Amino acid sequence: MTVARMLGVAVSALALVGTAALSSAAAAPEQAAGRPGERATPLVIGHRGASGYRPEHTLAGYELAARMGADFIEPDLVSTKDGVLVARHEPEIGGTTDVAAHPEFAGRRTTKDLDGVAVTGWFTEDFTLAELKTLRATERIPDVRQENTIHNGRHQVPTLQEVIDLKNRLSRELGREVGIYPETKHPTYFQRQGLALEPELVRVLNRNGLNRRNAKVFVQSFEVANLKALHRELRVPLVQLTSASGAPYDFVAAGDERTYADVVSAQGLKEVSTYADGVGPDKNQVVARDAAGNLAQPTRLVADAHAVGLKVHPYTFRAENTFLPKNLRSDAVAANYGDLFAELSAFWKAGVDGVFSDNPDIAVASRAENFPRA
Ligand code: G3P
Ligand code: CA
Repeated sequence: MTVARMLGVAVSALALVGTAALSSAAAAPEQAAGRPGERATPLVIGHRGASGYRPEHTLAGYELAARMGADFIEPDLVSTKDGVLVARHEPEIGGTTDVAAHPEFAGRRTTKDLDGVAVTGWFTEDFTLAELKTLRATERIPDVRQENTIHNGRHQVPTLQEVIDLKNRLSRELGREVGIYPETKHPTYFQRQGLALEPELVRVLNRNGLNRRNAKVFVQSFEVANLKALHRELRVPLVQLTSASGAPYDFVAAGDERTYADVVSAQGLKEVSTYADGVGPDKNQVVARDAAGNLAQPTRLVADAHAVGLKVHPYTFRAENTFLPKNLRSDAVAANYGDLFAELSAFWKAGVDGVFSDNPDIAVASRAENFPRA
């Protein structure tokens, strides 16, 4: 199994069509530049928390990210059997919890079609929230992040409401607003099961007073139609995620042959700007790698996105060699740290407006080096 698949990249949700041309309304939170023409200070988003240091999608990971200076914490969202939004990267929980060690749930192990891929394991939609709360989070990639494994078994699967409560508490304590950057995971998959994520997301944001133009919230999706639908329901800015390969799953499901490459074309980005405020591309779509895997030159993506008013928040910046371009690796050991500072510098120079990072402390330090007056 590749690290990419272990991290869930290969099964990241993708999909939803839609054609309604709706004008983009909300301004991106805390992105305003000081003077006309001045570049706004880019954002640091704690990817699934501070996943370089704690098992992903735990309150401990989110808290650490905020304390490291992340502007936003990022819960990926899936649904429980009773319709509660919880923070997991995908519905299958065998890779990030101790569910396999719970004999009472052995009978729930099954194989499902997840966006066209057969996945075997345990699925959040087969567990009530009360049942899910008996599980504990575990490190997804223990071979690469052995140090994180000492935290295995110590943290529950959090609900979106618990993430919001945490960010409210930390905002008060830190004296600055910590933002949330929720992502709807596999929206078509959950819609087909009668557990659509979108109505509950809107309800939770409304209930917490966060569905407003100046709330420090971005909502993101790899699918298109659900973002277009959310554009009609939410006042917060929306971000269209894109992958370096494949197509939004809702496009696939609808027989639409457009791919993510089409979405990040100049014409595609113009369409995105009718319903979203930004794009969240795979970092390789922003600064390409050459045939040898070394960091190469910026693509047109940032210029084309900015030309139609879209922010650009690429993912995912990680310190370990295995995730870095070959020329920035320190040695051949996958888990050793390479030169994440150099990689981030290249992206700041390419003009990105924010980064998703598993190492928010390094991203914050790199930002300070590159934007000394911020
Ligand atoms: O949401 C940005 C980034 O997190 C997308 O990738 O698969 O880690 O959710 P993933
Ligand atoms: Ca995500």
